[in-house]
Amino acid sequence: MKEIIEPFRIKSVEPIQFTTLEQRREILARAHYNPFKIDADDVIIDLLTDSGTSAMSAAQWGAILTGDESYAGSRSFRRFESKVREIFGFKHVIPTHQGRASEKILMSIVGGAGKTIPNNNHFDTTRANVEFTGAEALDLVIEEGKDPDNLHPFKGNIDLAKLEKVLIERSAQVPIGMLTITNNTGGGQPVSMECIRSTGKLLRRYGVPFFIDSCRFAENAWFIKQREEGYKDKTPKEIAQEMFSYADGATMSLKKDGFGNIGGFLAMNDDSLADSARNLLILTEGFPTYGGLAGRDLEALAVGLEETLDERYLEYRHATVSYLAHKLMDAGVRIVQPPGGHAVYIDAKRFFPQIPPEQFPAQVFVCELYLAGGIRGVEIGSAMFGRNVNGVEIPADRELVRLALPRRVYTQAHVNYVAEVITEMYRHRSEARGLRIVKQAPFLRHFTAEFDAAGSG
Ligand code: F0G
Repeated sequence: MKEIIEPFRIKSVEPIQFTTLEQRREILARAHYNPFKIDADDVIIDLLTDSGTSAMSAAQWGAILTGDESYAGSRSFRRFESKVREIFGFKHVIPTHQGRASEKILMSIVGGAGKTIPNNNHFDTTRANVEFTGAEALDLVIEEGKDPDNLHPFKGNIDLAKLEKVLIERSAQVPIGMLTITNNTGGGQPVSMECIRSTGKLLRRYGVPFFIDSCRFAENAWFIKQREEGYKDKTPKEIAQEMFSYADGATMSLKKDGFGNIGGFLAMNDDSLADSARNLLILTEGFPTYGGLAGRDLEALAVGLEETLDERYLEYRHATVSYLAHKLMDAGVRIVQPPGGHAVYIDAKRFFPQIPPEQFPAQVFVCELYLAGGIRGVEIGSAMFGRNVNGVEIPADRELVRLALPRRVYTQAHVNYVAEVITEMYRHRSEARGLRIVKQAPFLRHFTAEFDAAGSG
C-alpha cells in the first residue's frame, strides 16, 4: 500500500473552537498583530510549536498512575534513568523541567567570558544561555545549510574544517563542542552519522568534550535510516545508540521527541562534571531524582522515549511534514528545501515580494494566516532576529515562517485544510501590506511586540 496512515486510533478528543473571519479580524487587532498574544482557544489549528504540544498515548497516561512521588530515590526516576541510559548510553542522567534548564546548568559550569562554544546552529535558548555567561556562541553549519534551495541530504551538518580551525587557534578556550540534532534554527535539518562521528573524533583529538542537543534525536535517526548508506536495516534505536556513542553528553528537551508536555534532562559520562551539575540542580530544579518533575512525569517520559523510536510512528511523522511541504510547493509556495523533521519553513520574502524586510513580511504572513484560516505559525524573521538601532530597523537575513507540527495531534484533513488556506492566501498575495513595530521590548521582542499597518499613525 502506498498510503501511509496515522499509526494510532483516537481515544480521547479535544474540541476545536471555530471563529469567523470577522471575529478573527477583531482578535488579531486586539493582539496588536502578534499571534503570540492570541488566546489558544481562538486558534483553529495551532502550529506555533511542536514543543510540549504532543498527544500522549494511553500507555503514557496509564504510566502516570504508577508515578512514585517520593522526594528521594523514586522508583519512577529509576525507570526513567534506565530508559535514558538504554538509548543515550550516558553514565549520569540528571532530570530537569525542560531543555533550557539543562542548558542553563551546563553553561553555568563550562561557560564564562573569553570562552567559545561551537555548534552547527545554537537554538535561541542555547545561545542565550551561552551568552549569559559571557561566552561566545559560534554557529558553524555547512554553507549548503544556509541556502534554502539546496537539496543536500544533511543540511544540519557542521563545517568540520571551520571547527578544526577554531580548535587549532583556541582549543583552550573551547570548553565543549556541540551539535544540535535536528538543526531547528537551520530548518529542522538532520545531521549525518558520518558528521556526528567525525565531530566526536575531532573534538576528542583536541581534548574537548562533545555534547549533543538531542531534542529531535528520533527524527534525526529516521533521516539517517532513510538517507545514509549503511543504515537502512538498522532500527531507529540502534541508530540513536550509535549517534550518542560518539558524544560525552547531551542536553534534551523531552517536550519534543520525548512525547512529554514537560520535561528534559542533562546527561554525561564525566563524574566531576555530573557532581557540579547536580549541585546546581538542587539550587533551582530540585533533588537529583526528580529535578523539577513529578514522578508521574518521569513515568510518562520513559514510555514516550520508547514510543518515539517506533518505525511506524517515525514514518508517519516524516510523511506528514513532507505531505504538507509538497502540497505547498505544488501551489507555487517557496519553502526551505528539503522539508525538515518537525516543521515546514515558508519563505515569506518570496511570498510577499512587495513587502520590504523593514515591514516584516514574515510577520505579515503569520497575521494573514491567522485571518484566513485561524491557523497560528511562528515568525522567524526580522521581528525575531532583526534589531532596532536608534529607531532604524536592521532586518534579519531571512524572512521565514515556521509551521511546526505537534506530534500525533492533527489528522490528514487538518493538514489539507492548512494547505488549502495557504494556497488561497497565495492567490491573493499581492493585496497584502506591510507592518511596523509600535512597541517592543529590549530582548526577545517577538514575544511581546505590538504592530500596526505600515504607513499608519
Ligand atoms: N534546543 C532546541 C533545538 C530547541 O528546539 C529547543 C526548544 C530547546 C533547545 C529548548 O528546549 O523549550 O524545553 O526549554 N524549542 C522550542 C521550539 C521552544 O518551539 O522550537 P525547552
